[in-house]
Amino acid sequence: MQTFEERRAEEMEVRDPTCANETLSYMLQRAQAIGAGSILEIGAGKGFTSIAFAKTLPSARVTAIERDAVRAAAARENIRDFGVEDRVRLLEGDAADILPTLGGTYDVIFLDAAKVQYRRFFPDCKRLLRAGGILFSDDVMLFSDGVPKKRRMLAMHLQEYMRMLREDADLSTTVHGYGMGLAESVKLR
Ligand SMILES: C[S@@+](CC[C@H](N)C(=O)[O-])C[C@H]1O[C@@H](n2cnc3c(N)ncnc32)[C@H](O)[C@@H]1O
Repeated sequence: MQTFEERRAEEMEVRDPTCANETLSYMLQRAQAIGAGSILEIGAGKGFTSIAFAKTLPSARVTAIERDAVRAAAARENIRDFGVEDRVRLLEGDAADILPTLGGTYDVIFLDAAKVQYRRFFPDCKRLLRAGGILFSDDVMLFSDGVPKKRRMLAMHLQEYMRMLREDADLSTTVHGYGMGLAESVKLR
């Protein structure tokens, strides 16, 4: 059987891949630093990032949401293959339907679903994040080198989302250049 690193590296080659290596390393390091015990991933793909969180933080519980049936099935298999099925819960469906049903709070939330939906998911992310917790939003600098005509709407959604994060007085947001841009928002209160 392939190691986790080998299977993840293979996944990097395909469409809708898992997040960049540097993005993953940074999030794992920050999650460890705050002693994260509960993690939520929105847009889990085939489960690699959720599995990495569970492997790095051996007592953490991870909730992963994925709407694509094929990827959700692959995620389920990966979660089982890498032995973290007791701590990674995969919820298959649209985050727009699932997020409002979640209660409690999370120490870390990784938002990596459809970028046009980031603004829509933000109120639930904020509600579900504990004070002192971290919301990571991936790919926020997707169009830093210019916006192709066909992607103007998507670029506008991301700009608006970034404005929302920056103007929220309950959050302190920093953008890192990892991958296509990773926003890190710490909930202050
Ligand atoms: C970039 S991939 C996720 C990669 C994953 N976070 C990782 O690091 O391995 C984005 C995923 O989000 C899923 N997705 C997009 N919109 C969604 C939504 N509204 N609800 C749930 N999943 C969604 C897509 O099906 C896709 O698998």
